[in-house]
Amino acid sequence: MNEKGKVVLAYSGGLDTSVAVKWIQEAYGLDVVTLTLDLGTHEDLDRIRRRALDVGAVKALVVDAADVFVEYFIWPALRAGAVYERAYPLATALGRPLIAKLLVDTARQEGAHAVAHGCTGKGNDQVRLDVAVKTLAPEMDIIAPAREWKMTRQQEMDYAAQHGIKVDVTRKSPYSTDENLWGRSVECGVLEDPWAEPPEDAFAWTASAADAPDEPEYIEIDFEKGVPVALNGRQMGGAPLIEELNHTAGRHGVGRIDHIEDRVVGIKSRELYEAPAAVVLHAAHAALEGMTMTRPALRFKEVVSLHYADMIYDGLWFSKFHQDLAAYVLSSQQVVKGSVRMKLFKGQGVKVGVRSEYGLYRKALATYDEGDQFDHRAALGFIALHGLPTRTQAQVLKTALPDETLRPRLSPPEIKPK
Ligand code: ARG
Repeated sequence: MNEKGKVVLAYSGGLDTSVAVKWIQEAYGLDVVTLTLDLGTHEDLDRIRRRALDVGAVKALVVDAADVFVEYFIWPALRAGAVYERAYPLATALGRPLIAKLLVDTARQEGAHAVAHGCTGKGNDQVRLDVAVKTLAPEMDIIAPAREWKMTRQQEMDYAAQHGIKVDVTRKSPYSTDENLWGRSVECGVLEDPWAEPPEDAFAWTASAADAPDEPEYIEIDFEKGVPVALNGRQMGGAPLIEELNHTAGRHGVGRIDHIEDRVVGIKSRELYEAPAAVVLHAAHAALEGMTMTRPALRFKEVVSLHYADMIYDGLWFSKFHQDLAAYVLSSQQVVKGSVRMKLFKGQGVKVGVRSEYGLYRKALATYDEGDQFDHRAALGFIALHGLPTRTQAQVLKTALPDETLRPRLSPPEIKPK
């Protein structure tokens, strides 16, 4: 029997991946099984399944992966404080390793020797998907039609027309977007001018500060081991909690991010994000860490967060390095338990209160009022020792290194008050 080979294609239902179904059949002579994931944005999976079969897939599979996405990808990133270049909470980047994992699993179940995705050759997503697939399944071939075909946008439309693939005009937009529960990424069009303010039509999840309610809204988030477990006193699962927070914070205009970003492939690009829940949760989580962790632990966590974010962004999710970082993070989060009160108002989400049974704040030590238990005399001895190396070196350098021309002046010239 001479059976046709099979490929599993990550299918969104959009034009690119619909054209890809046909293109793979023609260019590679393979049967195409499509796989569509819902990462928490309530996609119309039935409609997408029908469209996949319409454009010629031999089988169309769908999976609701929202809970897995939260448990295995979003929460680890939140615990780690992973925010790329202090701006981007990594929604798209976190979705890619999960897509790769499900592609590989499905390919094995279906007896396919290859997986396919709709990424172009310019972005980060191709890097993330390819590296993840090859790490999980070195034997798997990868087909990336949009990286391989040499069609312009117009030629792609013509190809679609010739093959009877309907262009869904309702989904047409001047931007290229990607969405999942953790956020929405927006690129292209007028956004490619970094001097131009993003127009309102680029946003879909957040109100502008001007249109946001004139009254602030207070919310309370309870954390255990570094992840939220309740919102306003109600215990909730991760996905519904994030979804509700996206709505609430988005209504107040919280979570708009405008970022000049360094892509893995060396390009700087202008990226717009909407991530109301991610922004609020990272701020609340950091506030709780500030309350429960010591200074050296907080300083080291900043370094870990930086590397964790780069690791996710760079597509190295399934690496030993990640496992090592995650082990430290998990251990650090044992004390990150408590409640944070946030105020949402006109585009800002700020912490206004925090409490924790592991809190290191002691009123008796901090107070300037009655009941002060801090030993003021101990401060004198502390200061003498704390400043000792600096005082010693200043004396030594006065004679040993008097020429200051090669050293930055840390202090202004002597000033004589009149
Ligand atoms: N720049 C972001 C990232 O690399 C967003 C990418 C958006 N991807 C997309 N296919 N539209 O994670």
